[in-house]
Amino acid sequence: MLFFSSLASIAAIAGFAIAQSPPLSDFSSEDIASGAAWEKVQKLALERMQDNIDFRGNKCNFETATVRKEFRNMTLEHRKSFTNAVECLQRLPPQVMTHEQKKQYPGVHSRYDEYVATHINYTMTIHMTADFLAWHRFYVHSFEQDLKKHCGYTGHMPYWNWAEDAEALDQSEIFNGDEYSMGSNGVYISNRDYTYLGLQNVNFPPGTGGGCVHSGPFSKTKLHLGPIDSPYNNNVKSDYEDNPRCLVRDLNSFFSTQYNTYTNVTELLLGEIYIEGFQGLMQGYGSDANRFGVHGGGHWLGGGPSDLEDMHSSPNDPIFFLHHAMLDKIWLVWQYLDIWDRQFIIRGTSTMGNSPPSPDMQLTDKISFGFVAPDQTFHDLMDTFAGSFCYKYD
Ligand SMILES: *[C@@H]1O[C@H](CO)[C@@H](O)[C@H](O)[C@H]1NC(C)=O
Ligand SMILES: *[C@@H]1O[C@H](CO)[C@@H](O)[C@H](O)[C@H]1NC(C)=O
Ligand SMILES: *[C@@H]1O[C@H](CO)[C@@H](O)[C@H](O)[C@H]1NC(C)=O
Repeated sequence: MLFFSSLASIAAIAGFAIAQSPPLSDFSSEDIASGAAWEKVQKLALERMQDNIDFRGNKCNFETATVRKEFRNMTLEHRKSFTNAVECLQRLPPQVMTHEQKKQYPGVHSRYDEYVATHINYTMTIHMTADFLAWHRFYVHSFEQDLKKHCGYTGHMPYWNWAEDAEALDQSEIFNGDEYSMGSNGVYISNRDYTYLGLQNVNFPPGTGGGCVHSGPFSKTKLHLGPIDSPYNNNVKSDYEDNPRCLVRDLNSFFSTQYNTYTNVTELLLGEIYIEGFQGLMQGYGSDANRFGVHGGGHWLGGGPSDLEDMHSSPNDPIFFLHHAMLDKIWLVWQYLDIWDRQFIIRGTSTMGNSPPSPDMQLTDKISFGFVAPDQTFHDLMDTFAGSFCYKYD
């Protein structure tokens, strides 16, 4: 920590205030609910980011960093080039799995499936762990790099600000099913019952789709892996079984209105000043009042029968990557609201909810990425302006 205290004192001598995060109480409940508070805090974080990054004088700086945009803030052509590139990755043969491994991973048919298989493989060691945020940051980054490397994509990773759509997901431009969307909702299936989730003790109504994505990008996508955690009786018997089927969505605002609103995300961002509270509330553990968090809400809003809700195989739905880019943005903003204290802060072990118990993770630990990428050092995943990263969000 000597490094930080000395940098902090240089900054103090140079006359910078050591900035702390504004408290939630700085904002009215109207501004929190409307997204005005969220907007203001984004701007503040970007200003502090610029000060901090320019002060470092690295090659990757505030101006050279790539900008990840909200999907709707991309031009129509750029949106289409993104979904085209994702469909290309879904057609591309596996790039890392060997011929001998095919027997072990019968459901892996494409480079895209290698991502899904890797997420399945590490599910129990990348959720409710110290490296939840860092693991998913590098996973999304690798996906973006693959789109560029294998599929000629020249843009950057988009994110999805679900708070904008929380009240009426099925009205969102992102799911309108035209060629510039992320594909439609699922075909509507009527006369369905409520679903009870024992773990979270919640009984939820059916959503607004329920069947296959029927138009736009991903309506012709064939999935092979999962489901593994479906609340219905359709799970595969082994993790990597081949189970060819369509992509299912059942957009359900029951979840987004309770877990993904501007109020929910702003309370998380400004209300949680310690990493254990921040990562815990984001994933909906440690509090009976919130058993999903913006992370779980952003998966379950896909609906009960959807592929997006499946804890293991959820990357099957490409919206997964836009949801996790949004979570990464929230983490990045949280980091820059108090960068001296938050840049390299981690807490927790490497097993889900520390079950079975495992040692506290350290920044020197290696983190595995299976078929996605070589092992990474935890420390190198903490800063989006260093190492293999050089990006920010708009
Ligand atoms: C999320 O925000 C909404 C208001 O937008 C509120 O009704 C709901 O209780 C919040 N959820 C949690 C778990 O705090
Ligand atoms: C699964 O994890 C093991 C152990 O880390 C690793 O050897 C294997 O390559 C992984 N497979 C995938 C698909 O991630
Ligand atoms: C969209 O882009 C404009 C101009 O490039 C920018 O000012 C605005 O902040 C962006 N909106 C979002 C939601 O990021």
